[in-house]
Amino acid sequence: MLFPQSVRIDGATGAMSIETGRYVKRLSELRPIFHDKPALDHDVAALDDPQVYEVVEYRKPGSDIFFGTTTMEPGKVGNEFYMTRGHFHARRDMGEVYYTQSGEGVLLLQSRGGETSVLEMRPGACAFIPPDWAHRSINTGQEKLVFVWVCNPEAGHDYADIMQRGMRKLVVERDGKVAVIDSPTHP
Ligand code: PA5
Ligand code: NI
Repeated sequence: MLFPQSVRIDGATGAMSIETGRYVKRLSELRPIFHDKPALDHDVAALDDPQVYEVVEYRKPGSDIFFGTTTMEPGKVGNEFYMTRGHFHARRDMGEVYYTQSGEGVLLLQSRGGETSVLEMRPGACAFIPPDWAHRSINTGQEKLVFVWVCNPEAGHDYADIMQRGMRKLVVERDGKVAVIDSPTHP
């Protein structure tokens, strides 16, 4: 039998009082997803391969739900804001919830059929990610973007499609503002 447990989450840092796993993504590992490769290579060298985001999770074997935090640093590569890899779930029947704790950003979604949705991420915004919609978060602010996610541990990640083709929209800084534009490279 599984027993209930309370986990404290620091909404400013994404730290969790109980964690079962974590990983960090650095800029060099995200080279395929950014368009401005010279800017990326420059930043990897000049900034000593900075951390872009960190994921911390709380997982209980045997449970049908697990949760965790993603904490994204502020930053840009050229004019493109720091973002996650983005993925579909391996299980096409499983969605997810993203609840933003701090910072500001954009949640970019794309259905299997190519429809796009853009949701804001700011404290209190709780996003419903339907099954079979790819999702990528983008930190458009000056501070850390921290959100809690909840999903089924069997959902899994399918990175191939987004890694190869990107998403239809890009989130960039234009004239000092956040702009969602059509990707020049998405077919
Ligand atoms: O399951 C999720 O959607 C999140 O936990 C993400 O995995 C996390 O935000 C990191 O993004 P990605 O897996 O696209 O690199
Ligand atoms: Ni997901």
